[in-house]
Amino acid sequence: RAATDYQAEDAHISQGTVATNHTGYTGTGFVDYTNIKGSYVEFTVNAASAGTAAVTLRYANGTSTDRPMDISVGGTVVAPAVSFPATADWNTWATRTLTVPLTAGSDKIRATATTADGGPNLDRISVDAATDTQAPTR
Ligand code: GCU
Repeated sequence: RAATDYQAEDAHISQGTVATNHTGYTGTGFVDYTNIKGSYVEFTVNAASAGTAAVTLRYANGTSTDRPMDISVGGTVVAPAVSFPATADWNTWATRTLTVPLTAGSDKIRATATTADGGPNLDRISVDAATDTQAPTR
């Protein structure tokens, strides 16, 4: 089965802007978190049934300082202060994969900056739901 991509620039953004001033992003841009604690991006995702899902966040961090974020599902933090360490520069993207619980149907996955630096630049998340019953498309 294929993971489903959700672009950050299409998600709900609180204290961040859609930007295109670095290369290598997918979709039409990425989210530049405002440099403030509590800034977040929230994705609405859909799972066929309840169960765990692998969520991969694609990000860039052109500083030398970690940009940790809390990952929550439906308002509950499921992964606190996940590390988003430096990438080589702002044009270099890396991924972090977490296992999170999802309910059947719609879930809100939020990535919230936990320090005054704000989050890293966020390109997208990919959700691979173990319980996804969607038929292969090839
Ligand atoms: C730079 C960079 C931005 C980044 C920001 C930050 O301004 O160009 O893409 O978001 O630093 O520190 O978060």
